[in-house]
Order: sequence, then C-alpha cells, then structure tokens
Amino acid sequence: MSSGFSKGLTSYGDTGFSLFLRKAFIKGAGYTDDALGRPVIGIANTGSGFNPCHGNAPQLIEAIRRGVMLAGGLPVEFPTISLHESFANPTSMYLRNLMAMDTEEMIRALPVDAVVLIGGCDKTVPAQLMGAASANVPVVQLVTGSMLTGSHDGKRVGACSDCRRFWASYRADEIDTDEITRVNDQLVASVGTCSVMGTASTMACVAEALGIAVPGSASPPAVTSDRMRVAERSGAVAVGIAKSTLTPAQIITPSSIENALRVLLAIGGSTNGVIHLTAIAGRLGIPVPLELVDRLGRDTPVLVDLKPSGQHYMEDFHHAGGMATLLRELKPLLRLEAMTVTGRSLGEEIEASGPGFAQDVIRSRANPIHPEGGIAVLKGNLAPGGAIIKQSAASKVLMQHEGRAVVFENLADLAERIDRDDLDVQADDVLVLRNIGPKGAPGMPEAGLIPIPRKLARQGVKDMVRVSDGRMSGTASGTIVLHATPESAIGGPLAYVRTGDRIRLDVPARELRLLVEDAEMARRAKAAPVAEPSADRGYRKLFLDTVTQADQGVDFDFLRRTP
Ligand code: FES
Repeated sequence: MSSGFSKGLTSYGDTGFSLFLRKAFIKGAGYTDDALGRPVIGIANTGSGFNPCHGNAPQLIEAIRRGVMLAGGLPVEFPTISLHESFANPTSMYLRNLMAMDTEEMIRALPVDAVVLIGGCDKTVPAQLMGAASANVPVVQLVTGSMLTGSHDGKRVGACSDCRRFWASYRADEIDTDEITRVNDQLVASVGTCSVMGTASTMACVAEALGIAVPGSASPPAVTSDRMRVAERSGAVAVGIAKSTLTPAQIITPSSIENALRVLLAIGGSTNGVIHLTAIAGRLGIPVPLELVDRLGRDTPVLVDLKPSGQHYMEDFHHAGGMATLLRELKPLLRLEAMTVTGRSLGEEIEASGPGFAQDVIRSRANPIHPEGGIAVLKGNLAPGGAIIKQSAASKVLMQHEGRAVVFENLADLAERIDRDDLDVQADDVLVLRNIGPKGAPGMPEAGLIPIPRKLARQGVKDMVRVSDGRMSGTASGTIVLHATPESAIGGPLAYVRTGDRIRLDVPARELRLLVEDAEMARRAKAAPVAEPSADRGYRKLFLDTVTQADQGVDFDFLRRTP
C-alpha cells in the first residue's frame, strides 16, 4: 500500500510522473528527500480571526510539529473551515455538516498517513470526527482547551453560563447598562473554548472517552503549558498510528460510543452531545437509539460539579485531575476493552493514570450531584420520535408540571411578542416555540432557551417549562424540553399545538404529553397542512433536501452509513 507523498496521487494517467511532479512542487517549499520519505502527519488547522475559541492554534501547531518531528514524522498543516458559535449565521449547526464534508474530503485528498485534528468550539469537534470516521484514516483529535475565567466585582465569571445569567438579570432590570457593559469585558478572559460544561467541553470529554484523543487531553485550559504538552504528545501519537490499522473505525465502536455516552451523562454534559454522538456513530453505521441514552442515564450519576449543572469551571475540573479522576470513578460502568489512539485499551489507560487525590469537583458515585444522568429522554404524543431534557440543570419543582401552552410560531414571532406587556402569559404556563428544528430555522438553532417574558422576569420568575424542536446551548440551564421529533416544519405534532392547549411534562415518567385528542390533532393537521421548507440552489438546497431529524444526528442522509 502506498504511503506518505506516494499516496493518493493526482490523476495524470502516469503515476511516475504524478509523483515526480508532486515532489517537484513540494520541494519548492524547501523539503529534502529525507523529509519527504517520513510518515506524513497532516495537521488540520482551524485557526481563524473569527474564531477566538481557536486563538491558540499557532502555538498548538508549533507543539504538534515538535511532537511529530521528535517521533520521526513530517508535519504538514492544511486549513479547513472553522466555525465559531457567535460568528455563524444563521447558526453554526447549519454549517457543521459542511465542515464535516470539508474535513473528510481533505483527509481523503491529501497524502497524509495520519492527521491531528485541531478542534474546539462547539461544532468543530463533531464535524471533524464525523469527517474522520468517514475518511477512516488514522486521526488524533486535539481540542484547543478552555478559556480562563474572569472576575466581575470580585466574583468569578466565565462564558457562557454567566453570560446568560447576567443577560437575564439585565432583562429583568436587576442590573443596569453600565454593569452589563463592564461584565462583557470579563466573561471571556482568554482565548479558548467556553469555561463551563458547555458543548465544547462536553465534546472534549467525549473525544477522550471515545479514545480518539490522547489521555488527559480534554481538560487543560487553552493557555497552559499542559495544553502545549498535550499537543506535542498528540503529534507523537499520530506518528505512532500512521500507517497502522488503528483507524477511527477501530476506535469508534459500540463499546466506545457507550463509554462516551456514560461520560456525557456523568459530566452533566450538553444536550447537543447526544445529537453529535449520534451523527459520529452514524458515519460508521452504529445506531444510537434514544432508548439507549435513557437506559444508560438511569444508572449513570452526574458526578462533575461544573456549571451549568453545578458550580465550578473547566480549569477546576483540570486541577481535580480531569478525565482520569472521572474515568476512575466511572470504571465499573465502562467498557474497558475499548481501544484508544495510544494503542492501549481504555482500561489500561485508566490503570496507567495512577491513584487519585482529594478534591471537590468530581464526586464519588456514592455521593453524586444527581443520582441519574444529566439528560433524560421524553416520549409522548408531542414528540413521538423523542425529545430530551437536561434534568440536571432543570428546576426540581417543574419536573412534573401541567400548564397552558403559549405558542410562538417562529423566531420572528418570538422576538416580536415575548417582551410585550400585553402578552397573555402566566408563570405556570408552558412556552412553546416551533419551526426551530433541523429544517425549520433552518439548522436547528440554539433558541430552545426561550427567554422568560420580560413582564414575568420583572416579577422575579426565573424558570418556566419551555418546549421546542430546537437545541439549546450546553452552557444554558432551565426546564427546557428540546429536540421534539419530528420537528414542526415537516408536520410533527408541535406544528398543531394552539395557545390554550394543556401540556403535561413528567420527567420521572419520561412523558411529554399534549392533552388534546388524537382526532382533534388530525383535524388540525388536515385543516392547515405544513409546507416543508425548500430552496432553489446551493448549500441551502443540499441542507433542506437531505438533513435528517435530531434522532438521526441532524446529519445529511447520504453521509450516514447503513447499519
Ligand atoms: Fe466557542 Fe463556546 S463559543 S466554545
């Protein structure tokens, strides 16, 4: 089998000439034949001026290069799309699959024996792992690491749970314009990913649990020496697996997916993690039914005391030993035979991590934050294909609740009416937002955290049951039902809810029910059938024609592999 620069030659009809030409061009950059004969390790560079979560990419690349060269390889970096949550219109999720396609095709097209993938911000790691799983070339995932926390009036703050908390206070007139401006300077204290257990931190932990990132790589903050050492080691490990059979298909297996789900549930991780893991597994034909998520959630306690479910930040998680401490605690629940990029099993890596030490960020299984996993799966006539709720970040008093639906048609309707004083809404109502699913918005934006109506916020209302077919940021909290499937834009039941209907949420019973007769729902559907969104051209057409629902990972149907 060809390798390095002999791999994947450009088609000129003469392979000898193709290699001759390729070497001539690369020598234009000053390489020797000795260098070009080494294992070639690609470095997927997702640094961008529009992505401060990846602001340490230059330093990481330098460290990866060092690791590759010390191990005898040749590092070569290449760019791919970069996505940042706040710099992606309409939403980064709309572009995740495009980044996955870019990553897959570049890995396939370039003469690389292995690749280090630099990801970090929410959608980048899922996109890279989806692409890598399909390309099936050996890869090591490297995350950029979390940002540092800041300080506001003597209190520690960090993106983005505190962003949402301060903004909610501002909406409720509890703080003024001066204060909201001052805290804006402090919420993101350095480059790196959000400092709480949001989607980026969740996917960092998930990648390590999957075995596709080096042990100890999930938690070091972006600007620390530990992060640079992880990068150097990732480069060396990539040389170790170059030309091997340790491809993503050998590492991402039903066993490692189950380990990743256990970790996702135990860290109080982002609800987005369920969608992303489903999409990653789907690239290899591994089903992740919501029933599996719920079954694992029943006996996987939340152990990590990080915002938004708890009180600490990612740098505290790192100081508490990071994933090694967590995996040691979860060991009886894990599939220890699962393989990792180091060539050792997860069980062997846990053994190698040595004994733990006293700390108060990662609890023992005997003393959990929450006895069940952070995420519960709901079923019922409002979500026949399932919906989820982050129960670890919800209000206990609302876990069993019945209320009157107050329906918003779409994001524009929400923006128009939510703050009006004449909005007919009470604190025990259930806010419903439709048309924010995969096709609806499109791209399933993180708008599921419907703001508390201003008139109720001013009265001190902090939480309400909210239901949508959209997603929510991993940094958010509240009694928020998400991912109602099928979505309203394709005629899911959410499309036919009316203001004044009653909705019952019963998380212990895993139920989400609209208290309206089936016959009445059928009558409403017949009277006003939905027109599915469509587009004439371009990526938007590809997206709307082929995107799947939340229970399929919101991947494009033609990119998933049939089990
Ligand atoms: Fe990039 Fe939060 S915005 S990780």
